[in-house]
Parts: sequence; C-alpha cells; structure tokens
Amino acid sequence: MPSLKFTVLAGDYIGPEVMAEALRVLDHVAAREHLALDCTEAVVGGAAIDRHGSALPEATLRACAAGDAILFGSVGGPKWEKLPPKEQPERAALLPLRKHFTLFANIRPGLLYPELADASPLKSERIPQGIDIVCIRELTGGIYFGQPKTTVTLPDGDVQALDTMVYRKSEIERITAAAVTAARSRKKKLCSVDKANVLETSLLWRKTVTDYVAAHAPDIALTHMYVDNAAMQLARDPNQFDVFVTENMFGDILSDEMAVICGSLGMLASASLGARQNSRGLPFGLYEPAGGTAPDIAGKGIANPCAQILSAALMLRYSFGLDAVAARLEAAVKKAVTSGVRTGDIAFGRPAVGTRAMADAIIAAY
Ligand code: IPM
Ligand code: MG
Repeated sequence: MPSLKFTVLAGDYIGPEVMAEALRVLDHVAAREHLALDCTEAVVGGAAIDRHGSALPEATLRACAAGDAILFGSVGGPKWEKLPPKEQPERAALLPLRKHFTLFANIRPGLLYPELADASPLKSERIPQGIDIVCIRELTGGIYFGQPKTTVTLPDGDVQALDTMVYRKSEIERITAAAVTAARSRKKKLCSVDKANVLETSLLWRKTVTDYVAAHAPDIALTHMYVDNAAMQLARDPNQFDVFVTENMFGDILSDEMAVICGSLGMLASASLGARQNSRGLPFGLYEPAGGTAPDIAGKGIANPCAQILSAALMLRYSFGLDAVAARLEAAVKKAVTSGVRTGDIAFGRPAVGTRAMADAIIAAY
C-alpha cells in the first residue's frame, strides 16, 4: 500500500496542541498497521494571517490539492477579532476551503459512550445507552454562501443587511445521496430537517428529499421534521434520531446542540466530503474536530485531543478506505476514556489528565 498522503492544517490556539497529539497517535497506528504516512504541514487561519497576510495562502491550497485528504485543527480567536469580519480566519479560511474543494457533505457523529453519560447535561435515564446519532449537514450552500450578501445604507438613512438563502435541486439531491449512504450503513432511518412551513428553500428541500428517496432509496425509512421541533426533540430524546440531514445553517446550530448533549465538544469529530475523488478513487475530504480553538485553555496543555484523533480516524475510513484501522483507533479512544483517563472537560470530579497523557493512554490502548 502506498503511503497515506495528507495535508495538516493545525491552525490557531489549541489547534496545534491537539494536532501534535493526533499526529503522534497516527504515527503509532501507522507503525502497528505497517502503513507509511506522508504528511505535509501548511499554515492556515490566524497563523497564516500573521505570517503571510492571508488566512488561506495560495501555497496552502496547493499543498491541500496535492494530498488525498486534509487533517484540519481549528482557526480563529480573539487575536484576530479586530479585523473586518470578511478577513477573520473563520470566514477567510474555513469557508473558502470548504467551497474550494466542494466539500458539501459534513458528517458529524454524535456519540456519547454509556460510561460517559454523566458528562451529558441530559438526565442519564433519558440516555441509558448513551447517544449514537449522526448529523449530515449540507456545507457549501444555503445562507452561508448565497448572493447577494451585503450591508447598505438606505435612502432614508436606515441601514439594511441582507443574506440570501438559496438552494438548487441538484445540491439537495447530492446531500440526500450522502445521507442515504450514511443511513444504509446504520439503521436505514433518515430524518430530514427543514422549515417547510415558512421557507421556500425548505419546500424545495422537502420535495427533493422525498422524491430522491422514493426513486433511489425505497429501503430507507424517511421522516421529516421542522427544525424548531428537531432542536427540542434532540434535547428530549436524542436517540429517536439515527441519521438526520439538514441544510447548512440548521446543521451548524443542531450540531452544536448535539455536541453539548454528547458531553463535550472535545469529543466530537467531523468529516467533510465532496464531489472530488482523491488519487485512490475515494472521497477527498477535510477532517476537523467540531470544537473550535478554545482560546481560554490554549497553551495550558489541557485540551481534549480526542475529537482531533477521532477526526483522524474518520480520515482513515473515508479518504483512505481503512475501515478496520479506523474502527481500531475509535475503539482505543473509547477504551482509554472509559477506563477513566479523562481530560478536564469530561472528568466530572475525577482527576483530570492533560492533552499529552490523554494521547498516551490512547496509544497504550491501541
Ligand atoms: C462549524 C463552525 C463554522 C461554521 C464557523 C467557524 C464558520 O461553527 O464548523 O460548525 O459555522 O460552519
Ligand atoms: Mg458550528
């Protein structure tokens, strides 16, 4: 097997701290599994603004295009908050990166081990089995990218801002196809989340999802839910969902809710896949923790590296086709955490370990 070629974009604040541990874990996995790693680091986000004056330098894009996947940390934070919004790392690096590689399918597993149920703000009797659901978020369309997107001063002196929520049928069809694939690999249950009682885009969404599943996936049990109700149902009984699929902004909001009911943002991984195939004929993807840069704990060596490590596992699965290796890595994370080795965010009264010790425990469990 040729070496695994991917680009590492660690980013800002805790990004490089958790990335360093994920790479150390990957080195161990590679040695055990007789795999060779070929990873190239490139700058992104605030770090790239400081060094090159741009959050997403051309050279970084070129480095990403040369690999089969991107392992991403996180970008942004208070240091760059004074920049104009359009130049801030999140908007100037992460969103263009998603768009550039057409990474339209964002897969966010919401996983809470039963042993960690006390880390969830939900009462444990609501989640005796923990939580195991998947959010599929459309990632390159909707109100994030729709044009026009402007702020203007009106003739009467008032100021008006405008965002545009726009979807094409073809965009909805391709995210539905991705959701169907995810549902087929699990319980064959799919819930589509929209706001079809108010929004035109949601009317098209609901009709397109319904037609697509009827024509191409009659084996899938499809349901629909309004997004406000979905937010409530997630907090009430998350496991009523198995896979849910939704548009970009709804998915952004619901996936943060999912993260908190799953105990900690520090545990949640994500994969963003696109239309593009990599040199192995598998999906080119970007893999990132759902958590962000956590400036408040950066530099202290206490951040939870699990989400970054689980994101690396998703990379092994989707972009390198190494399903069994990915499953072994996920099992090692679970074993380490459930045996009681935990960073502060999931320690809940137990003694907490630091970032490096958490990774050491995962390495020992692999
Ligand atoms: C996420 C983040 C991003 C988003 C931000 C950082 C632009 O919240 O990945 O969920 O809104 O997509
Ligand atoms: Mg978000």
